Amino acid sequence: MASLKIQSKHAAPTEIAADVLAVGVVATGKKGDFGPAVAALDEALEGALGKAIAKEEFTAKRGQSVEVQTLGRIEASVVVLHGLGEAEALKGDGIRTFAAKAARSAQASKATTLALVVPEVLEKASRTIGEGLELGVYRFTKYFTGDRVPKSSLEKVTVVPATKPTAEWKKQLELGQKIGAAINHTRDLGNEPPNTLFPASYAEIAAKMCKENGIECKVFDFKEIQRRGMKLIQAVGQGSVNEPRFVHMTYTPTKKAKKKIVLIGKGITFDSGGLSIKPAPGMGDMKSDMSGAGNLIGFMQAIAALEPAVEVHAIAPLAENMPDGKAYRPGDIWGSFDGKTVEIVNTDAEGRLLLADALAYARALQPDLLIDNATLTGACVVALGANCSAFYATTDEAAAAFQKAVEAAGENMWRMPLLEDLRDQVKSDVADVKQAGDRMGGSITAALFLREFIGDQKHWIHVDIAGPAFADKAFGWSPKGATGHGVLTFLALVEQAAG
Ligand code: BES
Ligand code: MN
Ligand code: ZN
Repeated sequence: MASLKIQSKHAAPTEIAADVLAVGVVATGKKGDFGPAVAALDEALEGALGKAIAKEEFTAKRGQSVEVQTLGRIEASVVVLHGLGEAEALKGDGIRTFAAKAARSAQASKATTLALVVPEVLEKASRTIGEGLELGVYRFTKYFTGDRVPKSSLEKVTVVPATKPTAEWKKQLELGQKIGAAINHTRDLGNEPPNTLFPASYAEIAAKMCKENGIECKVFDFKEIQRRGMKLIQAVGQGSVNEPRFVHMTYTPTKKAKKKIVLIGKGITFDSGGLSIKPAPGMGDMKSDMSGAGNLIGFMQAIAALEPAVEVHAIAPLAENMPDGKAYRPGDIWGSFDGKTVEIVNTDAEGRLLLADALAYARALQPDLLIDNATLTGACVVALGANCSAFYATTDEAAAAFQKAVEAAGENMWRMPLLEDLRDQVKSDVADVKQAGDRMGGSITAALFLREFIGDQKHWIHVDIAGPAFADKAFGWSPKGATGHGVLTFLALVEQAAG
């Protein structure tokens, strides 16, 4: 992907040359008052902007926009006003969405240069702006040929803050772009087809990213997975010619670590359902069933840029879930890394099996906080819709810390209960645990199953990202397709732990 050049310049909006001049406008409630930048532009455009504002009934409500051709009256060719809503309600996600939408729509209109005029209230938000711009230009175009190859992309953005930017402001803008690029890396993996992204190729991508960023990376091949007794990963993966892998990445800070955090991600590179095969419609979307593991790549890449004083581990169990003569079956009873036996009832509930072995492996690291994230259940999407994740926590303390990170990142996640009443559903007549319960409360029973494998780990968070990981339409700063949802929250959590 062509890389975006982001710079900043303190100048009058009327004097900035760009294909598109995007102006963030805060709603003041005072009729006709859209701040000094809009007033100056309207004057230079001889009232054309004011007319468009009136015609479109633009009130600077969040998400509203209005566009005017400048016809040579100022340096920029097009002016677009983006409504940001009221200043008090404007949080990180609103700013990130503004930057992303401005970049995305400028690129869609074939602009190669964009100027982003930032109102005074956004002064401190340079990191979020950098994130948004980079996230906004994301496209997955790798497999296009001929006419389908985009002829242009947004190349240069000039951020125009209301006051002169400091060195720290510029540094944060740069850092934001690095975080955006890391999340785009995650998106690339979620969009990559399953014939090219399978456990072994994921492991290679992880190893490369780690090498480039000074992160330690261990990869267990299928033999090693079996030797170590990761029987549930074996069960899920043995029905495919693409053998399972297990990846363990470690970031060690140069400063003394204040905390140790472990993040696990489900890495099913394709989920056919196995012998309990899925219906054909939508099966192709199950290429993104490795989104939890995909998140780890962007997460660790960003961690390397942020350099927090926290020891961070990222663990990805990887397998392809396929029907085959060797595939595991409903009715099977398998052992596990933990030692507990599991009765298999549905080979399409494969993710929790991978996670069970990964949780049992990870808890031995004795982290302050153990987290897993996974596209785990359709039931979760039914409960919370396509744009919101569920999270479960064993302690209110962990939940409060996580909730704070969710708010700082501006992602949609909602706490769900580990209802003890439903525990009977994962009890088995023939083994220690049953793999799945009935349809009712399916996201909760999946979480209860996982909890069986955390041993005496106190603080544990499980995040079900089945809805937002892969989108059928653009939402906020996320494009259609793989979103990288979750990475920003996990980063915020680590930064919080660093103090
Ligand atoms: N990967 C799916 C869950 C999923 C569904 C993710 C929709 C994203 C969108 C998971 O492996 C699965 O198939 N879960 C089953 C569990 C059931 C068989 C107990 C489900 O949700 O139907
Ligand atoms: Mn499945
Ligand atoms: Zn799955």
